[in-house]
Amino acid sequence: MKSSIPLLLCFSFLSLLSLYLISSQNPRNHNPNLPLTSMQPRLKVLVADLARSFNYGLLDVYWSLSSPDSRISSSDPDPLLRRDLSTRRPLLYPENPLIKQYSAEYWLLGDLETPAEVRSAASVAERVFDLEKADVVFVPFFATLSAEMELGWGRKGGFGKKEGNRDYERQKEVVDRVRASEAWKRSGGRDHVFVLTDPVAMWHVRAEIAPAVLLVVDFGGWYKIDSKTSGGNSSQMIQHTQVSLLKDVIVPYTHMLPRRHLSDDQHRHTLLYFKGAKHRHRGGLVREKLWDLLVNESDVIMEEGFPNATGREQSIQGMRNSEFCLHPAGDTPTSCRLFDAISSLCIPVIVSDSIELPFEGMVDYSKFSLFVSVSNALVPKWLVNYLKNISKSEKEMLRQNLAQVQPIFEYDNGSPGGIGAVPSEGAVNYIWRKILQKVPMIREAIIREKRKPEGVSIPLRCHCT
Ligand SMILES: *[C@@H]1O[C@H](CO)[C@@H](O)[C@H](O)[C@H]1NC(C)=O
Ligand SMILES: *[C@@H]1O[C@H](CO)[C@@H](O)[C@H](O)[C@H]1NC(C)=O
Ligand SMILES: *[C@@H]1O[C@H](CO)[C@@H](O)[C@H](O)[C@H]1NC(C)=O
Ligand SMILES: *[C@@H]1O[C@H](CO)[C@@H](O)[C@H](O)[C@H]1NC(C)=O
Repeated sequence: MKSSIPLLLCFSFLSLLSLYLISSQNPRNHNPNLPLTSMQPRLKVLVADLARSFNYGLLDVYWSLSSPDSRISSSDPDPLLRRDLSTRRPLLYPENPLIKQYSAEYWLLGDLETPAEVRSAASVAERVFDLEKADVVFVPFFATLSAEMELGWGRKGGFGKKEGNRDYERQKEVVDRVRASEAWKRSGGRDHVFVLTDPVAMWHVRAEIAPAVLLVVDFGGWYKIDSKTSGGNSSQMIQHTQVSLLKDVIVPYTHMLPRRHLSDDQHRHTLLYFKGAKHRHRGGLVREKLWDLLVNESDVIMEEGFPNATGREQSIQGMRNSEFCLHPAGDTPTSCRLFDAISSLCIPVIVSDSIELPFEGMVDYSKFSLFVSVSNALVPKWLVNYLKNISKSEKEMLRQNLAQVQPIFEYDNGSPGGIGAVPSEGAVNYIWRKILQKVPMIREAIIREKRKPEGVSIPLRCHCT
C-alpha cells in the first residue's frame, strides 16, 4: 500500500501535466480576456415557422419599390442602390437612416440563419429544431421594416388605422399564426422573442404579444399607450402591463456614423457638440430649453441637422472634433445619436432622467459617459462649467473605455446579407446573453402559470425597479 501513494501522486502530477499541455496548446487560454467559448452556456433558439414574406421576402419588396421614402424623398439613399440591387444577392438591409437605425432584426435573424458549419464557436445562440430542446422561440418577423414601409410609402395618416394598412395586415397574420402554434400554447407566449426596435413596430397587436420577451430600444414608445390605458393619466410611469426591465431586453440602435479608432483620434477643439432638431415633443421639451441655454456658448456647437449627406458629414466632423456629445431626451429617451457618439469616441453626456440602456449589468456606462440630471443641466452655465472642470486624464480614461466598448454596440458582422460568424463581443451575442439571463425566470413563470386551477385568473404581478 505504501508505494501506491507516490504512484498516485505521480499519476496526478502526470495528469495535471497533460492537462496543462493540452490547455497550453489552445491559444485562447493564453489570453485571460477571451471567453472560454467551448464552455460558455448557449441559448437554444427555435425559429418560429413563418413564411419568408415576413422577413427576407419583405426586403425583396423593399428593394423593388419604385419611389423613395416620402418622408425624406430628396435624400433617401436607397433609390440609387435599388438600380444595382435588383438582381444582386444577398439582400441588404435599407441604408435609409430612418430604417437602418433599427436594424437589429436583420442581424439577429442573420445569425440564426447562419449554417452550423459556418457559425463561430463564439456564437451564444444555438439553433435547435425541436421545441422540447428550445429555451426560447424567436419570431422571425421584420416588424420594423414592415412598419417603416407603411410609414414611408403608405397612405398619409394611415398608420394608426387598420383598414388599408399593409403593416397591420402583416402584424395580424404573424400574431394569429404564432398564437395558434403548439409552442405558444405551451408557454402562453412567455418564451417567445419579438424584435420591436422601432417604437411603432407591432403597434396594433401589442396587447396580444405582451407576455413575450420584447427587444426594444427603450420604453419611450410605450408612454402614449400607457397614458391611454391608465385613463388619461399622463404620468411618465409605465404600468408594466406591456414592457418591463424584468422580462424585456433593451437593445442598441444601429449606429449610423463610421467607427473612429482610438489610434486615429486627434485633438478635439470644441467642448460639446449636439446636432438635431431643436423642437421635440414629450421629454423633448428639455431639449428646447437646453438649446437656448447652450446655443451661444463659445465652446459649444449646437446645429440643426439636415437628413442628407451634408448633415451626415457635419455629424462626423462634429462628433470627432468635440470632447463631449450631448444626448438630451428626444421623442424617446434614447436615439441612435448615443451610439454614434460611442462610435465617434465622443464622450456622451446623457441628460435624460428616465433613460434605459442596453446591456445594463454587462457594461458600466459611468465608465465612459457622464450622466447629468435634467434639473442641473437646466441651471444656466452649470453644464459648461461642469464639463470644463473635467481633467484631461479623466477624459482620456473615459475615451479609452469608450474605445473598449465600441465593438459591443456593433451589429454588423461583415458578412454579406448578415449571414455569417458573429464576433464574440458584438451586439448580437450580447443580446443573446441578455435573453439567456432571463430563461430561468421564464421557466418559472410558465410552471407557475400551469399549476393554477382551471378558470382561475390572477392579475399579472410584477416587482419592478
Ligand atoms: C396618475 O398616476 C400616478 C402614478 O401612477 C398617480 O400617483 C396619480 O395619482 C395618478 N393621477 C390621477 C389623476 O389618476
Ligand atoms: C444667440 O445669439 C444670437 C446672435 O447674437 C441672438 O440673435 C440670439 O437671440 C441668441 N440666442 C439666445 C437663446 O440667447
Ligand atoms: C442637404 O440639405 C441642405 C438644406 O436643405 C442643403 O443646403 C444641402 O445642399 C443638402 N446637401 C446635399 C448633399 O444634398
Ligand atoms: C471641479 O472639480 C473639483 C475636483 O474634481 C471639484 O472639487 C469642484 O467642485 C468642481 N467644480 C465644479 C464647478 O464642478
